[in-house]
Amino acid sequence: MSDLDVIILAAGMGTRMKSATVKVLHRAAGRAIIEYVLDLAAEVGAASPVVVVGHQRDAVQSAIGDRARFCVQEPQLGTGHAVLMTADSVNARRVLILSGDVPLTRLETLQQLLAQHEAEKNALTLLTMKLDDPAMYGRIIRDDNGAVMRIVEAKDASDAEKRIGEVNAGIYVFDTEHLFDNLRGLSTKNAQGEYYLTDLIAVLRKAGHRVGAVITPDPVEALGVNSRADLAAVESEIQRRVVAKLMASGVTFRNPNTVVIDSTVTIGNDSVVYPFVTIEGTTKIGNGCVIEPGVHLINVTAGDNVHFKSGTVAEESQIDDDASVGPYAHLRPGTHLGTHVKVGNFVETKKAVFGNGAKASHLSYIGDADVGADVNIGAGTITCNYDGVNKNKTVIEDGAFIGSDTQLVAPVRVGKGAYVGAGSTITKDVPPDSLALSRTPQKIVEGWAKKKKK
Ligand code: UD1
Ligand code: CA
Repeated sequence: MSDLDVIILAAGMGTRMKSATVKVLHRAAGRAIIEYVLDLAAEVGAASPVVVVGHQRDAVQSAIGDRARFCVQEPQLGTGHAVLMTADSVNARRVLILSGDVPLTRLETLQQLLAQHEAEKNALTLLTMKLDDPAMYGRIIRDDNGAVMRIVEAKDASDAEKRIGEVNAGIYVFDTEHLFDNLRGLSTKNAQGEYYLTDLIAVLRKAGHRVGAVITPDPVEALGVNSRADLAAVESEIQRRVVAKLMASGVTFRNPNTVVIDSTVTIGNDSVVYPFVTIEGTTKIGNGCVIEPGVHLINVTAGDNVHFKSGTVAEESQIDDDASVGPYAHLRPGTHLGTHVKVGNFVETKKAVFGNGAKASHLSYIGDADVGADVNIGAGTITCNYDGVNKNKTVIEDGAFIGSDTQLVAPVRVGKGAYVGAGSTITKDVPPDSLALSRTPQKIVEGWAKKKKK
């Protein structure tokens, strides 16, 4: 028998979100909000947590995978009923109950809750907070000695009770022996006709048990996502934490309030992030990189000293050390740039591999292409990769030179060290070390302009 089980409540739909997606799968800073709660459950050192699922349970279960055990609550008759569904899955001495829609609680706060529960020998210890606008949270009613006596839900509260600023965060530690039998005795005589978990406070007090509370000084820890406005507030707090952590690890932000960085992103030290940058997904940035204004990176891996110039967009791409991209470059999925590669302004790449030191400095489209080391691609070069049916490949071998305004009609290969003259349309392979030229020779008509003006 382990010492602590964790239950995460996630069966509700979250109607106030006005969404086709169940509430706990809404995303903040790149992850479903319930994933933050799962992290906490893992950090607090419990065995695999028990998640109570109901609405869209297949979607919730597949998002969580093997990080939890599941209990189904069908239909959803309230938070008390939800916890009761776990009766056969919980056997530790104590149980910590979290909400799948409350993602910002700190580990230290949960540890304090658990410590106080032990120290005071409580049957139940809950987390509360004091709010200027207690809104729809359950109100904490204390007795004359200041002990928590009961909780009244906002919808059941009298006007006097509604004015109470101390509210229930929805996070509890119970002695398991006092939990399930008492849940079986709950009634639904309340404004919502539900089994309220919160009714257990009064039940336990009446039975002579101790109920304690930890008041968190930082209400954001208990912010529950019930609406889009709450979701935005949660996202901005996660953003604040992400950026604070990155700064602590040695990343410079020129204006931290303007960046959007998923909690899944890593950035190496001595990298500099300019304003209005968005970095998402599994992106990993190395040390000493520069990320200029307006850059948008999605699932990108960058080595050290990579320079992302203004306005560059990159997705599902890999960029090796000392490369430089942009301004206004677009790296589409399957791009891999070797070391010291330069991809300049208004260059678009897709499924393109650039060998070390290759350059495409201006206004090009390079798709379905293998570009060798030290290749130089002139301005306005286009790989004509699509014949209307199939995508075809262009290969440019090491050290080749492609003159400006060249069309490479794929499938085609330019051999090692070969030159393609500017303005050429290349439809056949170019042998190594040769020159290919396909433009029509220039004609000169002497005195033509003068004659025309007369
Ligand atoms: C609940 C508390 C309230 C507290 C608030 C804090 C009750 C009765 N009220 O209210 O005192 O201030 O949380 O955030 O507990 N859920 C289920 N099955 C159900 C109902 C809910 O699994 O049948 C889950 C929801 O998915 C959600 C969590 O329980 O993750 C809380 O439910 P919600 O309906 O949001 O409760 P609140 O009204 O916020
Ligand atoms: Ca809630």
